[in-house]
Amino acid sequence: MTDFSPQYLDSSLEDIALTHWQNGELVVIPTETVYGLAADASNDQAVAKIYALKHRPSFNPLIAHVDGTRMASRYVAWNEVAETLATAFWPGPLTLVLPLLPDAPISALATDGGETLGVRAPNHGHTLSLITRFGKPVVAPSANQSGRVSPSCADHVRQEFGSACPLIIDGGACRVGIESTVLDITTATPTLLRHGAITQAMIEKALNTTIALYAPDGTSTLKSPGLLLKHYAPSTPLRLNTTKVNEGEALLAFGDPIPEGAQHVFNLSASGNLQEAATRLFAGLRYLDACGATSIAVMPVPKNDIGIAINDRLMRAASKA
Ligand code: TXA
Ligand code: MG
Repeated sequence: MTDFSPQYLDSSLEDIALTHWQNGELVVIPTETVYGLAADASNDQAVAKIYALKHRPSFNPLIAHVDGTRMASRYVAWNEVAETLATAFWPGPLTLVLPLLPDAPISALATDGGETLGVRAPNHGHTLSLITRFGKPVVAPSANQSGRVSPSCADHVRQEFGSACPLIIDGGACRVGIESTVLDITTATPTLLRHGAITQAMIEKALNTTIALYAPDGTSTLKSPGLLLKHYAPSTPLRLNTTKVNEGEALLAFGDPIPEGAQHVFNLSASGNLQEAATRLFAGLRYLDACGATSIAVMPVPKNDIGIAINDRLMRAASKA
């Protein structure tokens, strides 16, 4: 039987994607974390289309996706810390923020005119080979409307953009399901700006030193504007860390047994597996958001390993700020 599964991409689709990038158009790419809305990082008009389609504030910089350390070092001031971390975790869900090289051909729109650039090599074969063939980085935020839940499969992307949706390279469901860890290594002590599958403990082990956690103090300009409290938000309110379901509520469950009384239930992982929960988190939020419940009760998720990132996204999804 012919296999129509999205993993078996037709190479002509890759050719079309490359032509789109060369012509300053957007292409939705699969990555191991979430789907990205990608454009030629050097092309101002193309980058502007990303901000327009997402309704993203221009002060929120974009991550440049590269095929590896060699490409990255043509754009940022590569250093030993970067080399150690890339050796340990690339290709993979870790974004490194480094000083942008003077005169590097990166659109100032992508960095909001700043002096740093976030770079990462996504761990997805098709996307890596597309970037290699393109020969330079593409910038790609998560392929969702700004402030909304990130897409962990191609259908989510179609839901976000409808008839305005650009070409999608459908690479199947994302294996990690939560956006990359963002680490600022422009400072003497590396600072974790966003939690992800590569945890603080994993980074500290690789570097053999402790790192800092970014805590917005409310006075300085936000270092990573994407860390605005309200983010990843469904329209239905969330009630976190509860094992009771109120009347009219839907339930985002974790583990087994689960409380009774909810008409709509989505279990992140009946076996209590955090990796599985991460891959299902955004699909679960989208599903329950569409159920018409008054609110979504969320069971506690352990705060270890990728559970830290899951709790971080749930906290932001629940925030009213
Ligand atoms: O997993 C991911 O990182 C996905 C996939 C598509 O690669 N991309 C993604 O991009 O999540 P986005 O734009 O949705 O989130 C990027 C985050 C934002 O919080 C942004 O503020 C931060 O990274 N960021 C990007 N460049 C930065 C920089 N130069 N300095 C500080 N924070 C930066
Ligand atoms: Mg995003």
